[in-house]
Amino acid sequence: MKLNRNWTVEQRYRPLEEIPKLAISAMVEKRRQDQGYPTYHIAPSFGLLNDPNGLCYFNGEHHIFYQWTPIGPVHGLKYWYHLTTKDFVNFVDHGVAIKPNEDFDSHGVYSGGAIVIDNEVALFYTGNKRDKDWKRIPTQCMAKMSADGNIEKAGVLIENCCYTEHFRDPKVWHHNNSYFMVVGAQNRQKEGGMILYQSDDLLSWHHKGPIKTNYKKLGYMWECPDFFDISGQSVMLFSPQGVVSQNDYDFKNIHSVAYIVGDNLNLETMELENHDEIKQPDYGFDFYAPQTYEDHLGRRILIAWVGLPDIDTPSVEHEWAGMLSLPRELKVVDGYLIQSPLTELTALRGDPILVKDEHKVPTGSFLLSVDVECSEFSLKFGNESGDFITFSANQYDFTLDRTYMTQLYAKNFGLYRKAPRICLKQKIEIYLDQSVIEIFINNGRHTMTSRFFINDLSFFSINGDIKVEYFPMKATSKFVL
Ligand code: FRU
Repeated sequence: MKLNRNWTVEQRYRPLEEIPKLAISAMVEKRRQDQGYPTYHIAPSFGLLNDPNGLCYFNGEHHIFYQWTPIGPVHGLKYWYHLTTKDFVNFVDHGVAIKPNEDFDSHGVYSGGAIVIDNEVALFYTGNKRDKDWKRIPTQCMAKMSADGNIEKAGVLIENCCYTEHFRDPKVWHHNNSYFMVVGAQNRQKEGGMILYQSDDLLSWHHKGPIKTNYKKLGYMWECPDFFDISGQSVMLFSPQGVVSQNDYDFKNIHSVAYIVGDNLNLETMELENHDEIKQPDYGFDFYAPQTYEDHLGRRILIAWVGLPDIDTPSVEHEWAGMLSLPRELKVVDGYLIQSPLTELTALRGDPILVKDEHKVPTGSFLLSVDVECSEFSLKFGNESGDFITFSANQYDFTLDRTYMTQLYAKNFGLYRKAPRICLKQKIEIYLDQSVIEIFINNGRHTMTSRFFINDLSFFSINGDIKVEYFPMKATSKFVL
């Protein structure tokens, strides 16, 4: 695989305006030839996508922004890229939304969230600046988007009072006539945390400090914090770095995603009161930096980056990297975040076929709806040359195994992932889209989200007493060149 570490800093930080048109068409051509490019997941036309940003429902549409490096499939100079959709089937591509063209964001318009206020959206992001010694100077910044889609920067809101250079990813919400912001940060003892700010006017912000939980030391940095109330409870969702576990399931990826559900955030003590134990929403290989928002129907929707920092995927050969997960509606039941694919996605389903044993698939974009009652079963997704991945279960756990796929990568992080099995009887949904698999298990309590690379995927086969319904999935409208 072509390795991204061969890129020089100068190459990575080349702005979009300086990329020759011919180089762009060459990248687009390469991407078009990639059979791993998804048909109903959001992915960049070329270059690298990472975190979802600025998610909101505004002016009759869902707005989805994402982190984008245009120069190539590599982490470099970051922009915000913008798409909208009314139904998650038809998308409008608005191109670049925010550029790194000010002194305070000269080295990247980093991640952040959005909040709708009357006829405008306030977009919050981290201005990533580096000095001549390459030291990071992060600030929390704002831009405003009007109803006609025009976006203007409003400048720096918050400077770094007391954290290391890792201070980023603002997420804002409105509560009791006040605005609140959480920022992911590393303190001077090199511990990660979620830092709370409060404001009356969105412009001047008061530093209230880290939100306290029973987890005193949990990793060296928390990226992409999110905080929301749902069904009368308060949820902290974040992407911690440097957390490991001794059990078979938790924190196996280079960086992870975790959440903590509590009763209430006490603004005096800064404690998340009466909280449950920390949990992971996803047990796959590639799930990071999720962000949530509430839409006009009151649904709390989550979208994540299907990818991880510091890992190159084989699509790099085709000049693109990274995609967004399907949108998932969240609920809280018994202290768990329950995720279900947004109902809009049923419009993408073709006619179902009940499958016994084995099924030849015309393309790698389909959904399996699986009814399970038995303890052991397995599903194999493969090609004629003998390459495959398996999703299997016994009474105790689920396993997603990539050992025998065509293009192996990130092997040093393990070839399989396991998730605990919470109940025997359940309905499992498995969404495949060329090089991504999203599996909803334990009745939505967990997912297993992963990239996989099998050339010419041609069949899936079933082992065990399970009922499998196959739905071909239609492509969403093209949102890229
Ligand atoms: C998470 C992250 C964020 C940062 C952004 C930069 O993947 O590292 O913390 O804002 O990506 O692209």
